[in-house]
Amino acid sequence: MNVFFVYINLIKKPTSNTKCSALIVVILYYNLFGGSDMSFKITKKETENKTIRFPLELISKIEENIKGEDISFSRFVILACEYALKNMEKKDKNINIEYKKIDKKDEQQVRDLINTVISGLEKKEFFIPYEEWELKRLFDEEYAPLHGAYDGDKLVGMAQLYIDQEMLKEFKEVLKIADYKVCELGGNLVLSEYRGMGITSNLQKMQYELGKELGFDYIISMAHPENIGSLKTLRKIGLEYVKTTSVANGHLRDIYCKKV
Ligand SMILES: CC(C)(COP(=O)(O)OP(=O)(O)OC[C@H]1O[C@@H](n2cnc3c(N)ncnc32)[C@H](O)[C@@H]1OP(=O)(O)O)[C@@H](O)C(=O)NCCC(=O)NCCS
Repeated sequence: MNVFFVYINLIKKPTSNTKCSALIVVILYYNLFGGSDMSFKITKKETENKTIRFPLELISKIEENIKGEDISFSRFVILACEYALKNMEKKDKNINIEYKKIDKKDEQQVRDLINTVISGLEKKEFFIPYEEWELKRLFDEEYAPLHGAYDGDKLVGMAQLYIDQEMLKEFKEVLKIADYKVCELGGNLVLSEYRGMGITSNLQKMQYELGKELGFDYIISMAHPENIGSLKTLRKIGLEYVKTTSVANGHLRDIYCKKV
């Protein structure tokens, strides 16, 4: 086995809203079959060799995680770097996000946001599509107060707090809290280029506070068991996993709950 080179370029780049961000660029090229037809070659001219000392523990962790996956060490590291760069760009953008109730004048923006996010879902089961009657109640405060995240005038994210007790009846029974006042976090949709910036977390914090102000006893929410991002936002605001069950005609959901 020939190890040809290992490269890491460590850049510390302060940004406006993060004190410091670290970017590690690694290209590792190794050949298990030196000189044979199965040699792994980087053929693209636009690559360049860089050398860096790579912590052994990190090498082991990466190798352990890509074992059995169809990805090389170098490809993994390049993807990680691209992810880090994208994330840094997004964090910079976050400065300008404004959170507020969505006014009816922005109804078309809400509908466009819903259509864009739903049509681009990683898995269509992640979001139960709105029915027309739900769209008609988007601005009905008795049903579900609606908050938005704006980049300037552009609506980039939204969230609803479902408060209508009749609509929540099924979930209250499932959770054995039928006699309490329960509200539900839902309608979480963020444009893909604005994800991972804390937008949903901020909107959910606002709604949690609203639920508290309105005197609710419990706050619940649910997400598809594979919707990692959505589940993470629920745990972040302190909701706890209760059970996995099938809701609304066969949609699998992890149910989360918290006493307010
Ligand atoms: C789910 C969704 C609303 C999350 O919105 P978001 O604004 O990107 O969420 P946040 O930025 O507040 O993320 C909160 C945490 O989850 C993490 N996260 C978000 N998406 C993630 C993903 N796909 N994989 C792993 N972690 C993810 C964030 O990094 C963040 O973690 P951190 O606090 O440790 O940095 C958004 O991805 C989306 O619109 N998805 C499509 C529609 C959907 O599935 N809606 C939910 C239906 S239940």
